[in-house]
Amino acid sequence: MKLLICFGTRPEAIKMAPVCLELAKQNIPFKLCVTAQHREMLDQVLHFFSLTPDFDLNIMQPNQSLNVLSSKILLEMDAIFKKESFDMVLVHGDTTTSALVALAAFHCHIKVAHIEAGLRTYNKQSPFPEELNRQLTGRISDYHFAPTQQAKNNLLNEGVNENKVVVTGNSVIDALKITLEKIKHGYTNTFIENLKSNINFKNNIILVTGHRRESFGVGFENVCEAILEISKQKGVEIVYPVHLNPNVQGVVYEKLSNVENIHLIPPLNYPSFVWLMSQSNLIISDSGGIQEEAPSLNIPVLVTRNTTEREEGIKAQCSFLVGTDTKKIIDTVKQIMGKSKTKKLSNPYGSGDAAIKIVNYIKNNLFD
Ligand code: UD1
Ligand code: UDP
Repeated sequence: MKLLICFGTRPEAIKMAPVCLELAKQNIPFKLCVTAQHREMLDQVLHFFSLTPDFDLNIMQPNQSLNVLSSKILLEMDAIFKKESFDMVLVHGDTTTSALVALAAFHCHIKVAHIEAGLRTYNKQSPFPEELNRQLTGRISDYHFAPTQQAKNNLLNEGVNENKVVVTGNSVIDALKITLEKIKHGYTNTFIENLKSNINFKNNIILVTGHRRESFGVGFENVCEAILEISKQKGVEIVYPVHLNPNVQGVVYEKLSNVENIHLIPPLNYPSFVWLMSQSNLIISDSGGIQEEAPSLNIPVLVTRNTTEREEGIKAQCSFLVGTDTKKIIDTVKQIMGKSKTKKLSNPYGSGDAAIKIVNYIKNNLFD
């Protein structure tokens, strides 16, 4: 069985790293391909987890369009599959890399296993284009690693064979545990030390991120208005690592620069971001991964989206769907900050053993 692991963006790298590490630990051979749909944001994750790609397609362009990105992935993956024969490709999640690598593999009669399978909003426009990317990847895939029972149920309702679906938890929790353990044992870096020097962590820390395409324009403007208003509250520090997408950078720097307690910073490398999350009181974000990580740190997340495929967190009251409505964001922040910290909830997205479950399944069922 010749295995290829393929990913391209920051969150895929974070979530696939524990799987790569577990395969290596169990001496299961595999090759690693990165499309580099992201560049800097991907490289810092590879560096932190000491992963060296065997193939690096290096395709990222500034402000890339989805069609150009997609066509490059198909072309480049075709060349890889012609150069070297693989029996199975492991892809992750809902990015353009996931869907197009899966399609390229299918065209070359290579089996596909999908990690973080089965999440759904059933709304093609939200998240855009991720909902369709995930559905396409699911249709193509031969094996499905679902993070939760709900994700498995979605797949079964779509007619996927139950024997091909395994519930594993989300490997983002594995990555988080590895990283928190390192921090506990003294890991630090210049970014963490700079944050400690420049921000008053005795205040209430609100961490913000955002990058969803469906919120570009008015949605992002509304969220920025809300952040500006929230920054007027006493004893609050807002820390916002701004995603490198120019559609995000433009509006955020225009609306939120030069406010004393709003700290606009470049995206943080993963361990620094984990450290910052652990110091935060509240997170405002449209991120998928952060919705999954925050419950492990007992930090509430306001989800600035109209839909989420991570409903488990909403049901467990770990996260709150607020959309991009300025007033709703401000009111919900006030409500949550006014409450004393709730008792620790268990994380519906897993407990940190997803990679072992995935690798054991591969070893026991897919190798002769
Ligand atoms: C992508 C994924 C999204 C995922 C997100 C995680 C798609 C369509 N989108 O969105 O599902 O949630 O990553 O962050 O697959 N850029 C850089 N350097 C980087 C990364 C991005 O400069 O390291 C800039 C470039 O100008 C690039 C742009 O951001 O063209 C957009 O990158 P792209 O991957 O197309 O979209 P994201 O918004 O990052
Ligand atoms: N993250 C990071 N640095 C940052 C912001 C986020 O390392 O400045 C991590 C975060 O811990 C999470 C992942 O990136 O694991 C989420 O990525 P993103 O929000 O870009 O994508 P999504 O999860 O929405 O696909």
